[in-house]
Amino acid sequence: MITPQRIAKRVRRLRREISETYADIDQPLVIVVILKGAAVFASDLLRALSIPAELEFVRASSYGSGTASSGKVKFAHMVEGPLTGRHVLLVEDIVDSGRTINEILKRLRRDRPASIRLAALLDRPARREVPVDIHFTGFVIPDRFVIGYGLDYAGLYRELPGIYSLG
Ligand code: IMP
Ligand code: MG
Repeated sequence: MITPQRIAKRVRRLRREISETYADIDQPLVIVVILKGAAVFASDLLRALSIPAELEFVRASSYGSGTASSGKVKFAHMVEGPLTGRHVLLVEDIVDSGRTINEILKRLRRDRPASIRLAALLDRPARREVPVDIHFTGFVIPDRFVIGYGLDYAGLYRELPGIYSLG
């Protein structure tokens, strides 16, 4: 569906937009990567960012091993320090129903960060159940399950360089 070349080009653009958005903040940006799917996107986004950034990780998932949302969100790992007064950029692979990101946002907002924004590689609006404000979007995709560039099916295919539709 999306070639490695198109991804690279889009990621470069997003990196510029992010660097511009946060150019004037007086502290390092906190990039919160949502594991595992966003790891590949986040590393490419972070590399050569022109502003100082710290890295944190959250592990949450609303999916079992299939292709349909369970509607439940589990947290297996949280950010290490409090995000109070920090500028936070959440990095997600795909926003589908919106439940996962909404739960994570609710949790992180409790710390009262100075700002919190979301970068999502993929947006699949067809299955949205709760509204989500995405500040930096890679690609809007049709209603198909996708794999590659960090996204998995049953834990596999994350290493594929492009994004592919699974049937
Ligand atoms: P949501 O909570 O329904 O928005 O689901 C978002 C999460 O489900 C993402 O963080 C992904 O890990 C996973 N997910 C949703 N759609 C896909 C897909 O097409 N391929 C791989 N993972 C997906
Ligand atoms: Mg995920």
